Amino acid sequence: MRNGAQGRIWTKKKPEAEAGPLLQVEGLGKHWGARIGCAEVDFDLYPGEVLGIVGESGSGKSTLLGCLAGHLSADAGRIHYRGHDLRAMGEPERRHLARTEWAFVHQNPRDGLRMGVTAGANVGERLMAVGARHYGAIRAQARDWLGRVEIDPGRIDDRPRAFSGGMQQRLQIARNLVTGPRLVLMDEPTGGLDVSVQARLLDLLRELVREMGLSVIIVTHDLAVARLLADRLMVMKDGRVIEAGLTDQVLDDPQAAYTQLLVSSVLQV
Ligand SMILES: Nc1ncnc2c1ncn2[C@@H]1O[C@H](COP(=O)(O)OP(=O)(O)O)[C@@H](O)[C@H]1O
Ligand SMILES: [Mg+2]
Repeated sequence: MRNGAQGRIWTKKKPEAEAGPLLQVEGLGKHWGARIGCAEVDFDLYPGEVLGIVGESGSGKSTLLGCLAGHLSADAGRIHYRGHDLRAMGEPERRHLARTEWAFVHQNPRDGLRMGVTAGANVGERLMAVGARHYGAIRAQARDWLGRVEIDPGRIDDRPRAFSGGMQQRLQIARNLVTGPRLVLMDEPTGGLDVSVQARLLDLLRELVREMGLSVIIVTHDLAVARLLADRLMVMKDGRVIEAGLTDQVLDDPQAAYTQLLVSSVLQV
């Protein structure tokens, strides 16, 4: 692995060294006015697990992910991260966690990149945010990460707007993973891309998740993406989880009538 021990800025325990759940979610809910965004969501996420959240448009996937990430404030329920109550946590502490342990990959790379600075700076500033101060080492690691996400490292001084959509998404992934997060939240990470670009990006994501032992929550309306990446699935409808289980179990033997429709592609999602 190129991003080996010497590339790491700080050390931390390997995910497998921790036995308990990384994330515990109980009774989570959020309304948008009188409307349900998501309601009564319960699940645990263990280190190294990939959880897929699927469901048609408007089923509450992004609302749930936003509450988990702290971009939205939930109005019911509890979220524990490594035993700490997130909703009771102060803003500075929460921001520190988001910087050091979490990553969020947006569907639109523009929402997760700084378009006005170079590719190298997009990756490097995340390293600086967690304490890196040596310019040469930061640049070397940024270059290394561009290579890992299959961007020509010779383009380190180009700005993201010179990149294709697929390359911008790779850059957003490099920017998010360079600090070695434990938990990565992704909202439709391949959503806006051509099918051929999507396929390679999905392979790349799968390799990185495995290599780095990441815990991931990925929202997708695309069941093929869910099948490729997720160990477990939660199916949402009208803000609620209506079915959950191992990915092959849910997709090959769906129990809820709605999931059966979803799997048989009768529903336009
Ligand atoms: N910013 C918002 N303001 C008002 N209602 C919203 C907002 N975002 C989502 N909703 C509502 O919350 C519900 C769930 O939406 P969302 O979480 O975006 O679903 P999904 O990501 O599955 O498409 C929908 O009824 C939607 O209209
Ligand atoms: Mg959404």
